[in-house]
Amino acid sequence: MCGIVGYVGEREALPIILNSLQRIEYRGYDSCGILVQDNNEGKIHVHKSMKSIAQLKKNMSKSEYAGTLGIGHTRWATHGVPSRRNAHPHFDCDGEIAVVHNGIIENFQALKEGPLSNCRFKSDTDTEVIPHLIHQSLEKFNHQTSQKSSIKDAVRECLSHLKGSYAIIATAKGFDGLVVARKDSPLIIGVGDRENFIASDVPAVLDQTNRIIYLEEGDIAVVKKDSIYIENGDSEVKREEKIIPWTIEDAEKGGYEHFMLKEIHEEPKAIIDTLRGYLSEDGINLGVEFDAGRILMVACGTSYYAALCGKYIIEHLAKVPVQVELASEFNYSDFVLDDMMVMAITQSGETADTLMALKKAKRFGCKTVAITNVVGSTATRIADDTIYVRAGPEIGVAATKSFIVQLVTFYLLGLSRAKMPERELVERIDDLKWIPQLAQVVLDEEDVNIQKHARYLAGYENVFFVGRGVNLSIALEGALKLKEVSYIHAEGYAAGELKHGPFALLTKDTPVIAILSRDHIYEKTLVNVKEIKARGAPVIAIAETGDDEVEKYVDRVIRVPKTSAIFSPIPNTVALHLLAYWTAKARRCEIDKPRNLAKSVTVE
Ligand code: F6R
Repeated sequence: MCGIVGYVGEREALPIILNSLQRIEYRGYDSCGILVQDNNEGKIHVHKSMKSIAQLKKNMSKSEYAGTLGIGHTRWATHGVPSRRNAHPHFDCDGEIAVVHNGIIENFQALKEGPLSNCRFKSDTDTEVIPHLIHQSLEKFNHQTSQKSSIKDAVRECLSHLKGSYAIIATAKGFDGLVVARKDSPLIIGVGDRENFIASDVPAVLDQTNRIIYLEEGDIAVVKKDSIYIENGDSEVKREEKIIPWTIEDAEKGGYEHFMLKEIHEEPKAIIDTLRGYLSEDGINLGVEFDAGRILMVACGTSYYAALCGKYIIEHLAKVPVQVELASEFNYSDFVLDDMMVMAITQSGETADTLMALKKAKRFGCKTVAITNVVGSTATRIADDTIYVRAGPEIGVAATKSFIVQLVTFYLLGLSRAKMPERELVERIDDLKWIPQLAQVVLDEEDVNIQKHARYLAGYENVFFVGRGVNLSIALEGALKLKEVSYIHAEGYAAGELKHGPFALLTKDTPVIAILSRDHIYEKTLVNVKEIKARGAPVIAIAETGDDEVEKYVDRVIRVPKTSAIFSPIPNTVALHLLAYWTAKARRCEIDKPRNLAKSVTVE
């Protein structure tokens, strides 16, 4: 959703800016731009491009772009098509004030036609109003005080005119620092030794520092090589510096061709790390009071499907009613919020729709909990409590390991309030400890068990995924993953629902992936599969090892290890994540950067 970065220090800024941008390219990759300022020579160097950062790294030379202060931007277009002219940074009329921006300025048109009507605009973006407004404020201050006013005050005045969301980095020719500000879009400062870094996300700076300051809503900061000044409203504020436990290796590909594959292979470790955080000899302790009579989960995308699975898990284990809403729908609905506990499920902790939903729940006086992967993210600051899933940094645009640890959290939540005899509870907790192995077994058989089916699937353009009960959401997740990385049209359905309409689409060219776990509705799902076969569609079953029955009715079988029904989403998910990856690979898709997408959707 656009990534912005900045550097000020004593080293050459160009390689640092390019590296940082490359690490957060997942936030947008339709164009990019960098600015390096050489304060010794009084020069500004700017480069905008439709190429990837990797290509820029090859083509740009430090000597041509010398300077120890820089800013950069990697774009996910909102206003204005992807093009060099719309790439950031954007400037004022004199080309002296530069801004990179993540977010949306909703009133940009009114500003262009009103107070900025005399300015020359060179792009179609909303962002471009910002440097022009800063310029106007500086002019006004200079005129009033006949003294060169600080760029920070001009930024502050400019922000008072903006409606919408922003994280910005601004600088001006001859200025030895960066002015940064945020509202409803994330922004962090990486603290170094006689140098400082700015970025939308932590992975951008992880190779330089793990000392992170998370800026809060309304913060404006002036960042120089040896000082960080932050104010909010009229007064200076101190923000705590956090040490981030992630390492740079966590945020690199580690020999895998794609982040997505690496992250699927990290699923067992992510499960272990999450379990280790909350499960000990003394039982389960999530550090959150979980006593509500009803739960509402709000989320988007993959996190929404995890929440749907969570509903089954928690209702099954704890007998607590759970309702799940898409955050983007919930925000504008007349949903009746009473004394329920509201859980926001969000990997990034920055998804705009989910944050809005959290704020709405708070306005209604509900107790709120964020279930997120990112320490210090905005969701954690809005919610009353936070449960961290411990996936480590997730860079691939398609969520994988974060989904599986969201499920783990629901097992922990459900079991922490389980309504069952003690002996059964002990057994369930023992089963839970085994789930990393279940995931590992699927990974170990990736080449024999998944890849050949992926090559087969790659030849089709329409695919259905079906499941029932706790695995309905896994079918939905399987379809989402396949469509976003392989561009095959895929739909997830409750297995019993196809006959109510989608049957009309079934032909020999619409394979159906059927999740056939041995649960209480196995026989019913098998009947659904037979109905599908009778309509001529090829069926690939995801079935447990040892289930020989299934082979009689389907064309192909992907094997997953046997487990109790409630934990079957774990191996099924790993299998479907791998299937999506290898299908996309067979179709030679841009797996880590699917077209039109970006990770962390920080606009509504
Ligand atoms: C799909 C995917 C997205 C995210 C969604 C919510 O693979 O990654 O659907 O799940 O944008 O993101 P978070 O969980 O960060 O709120």
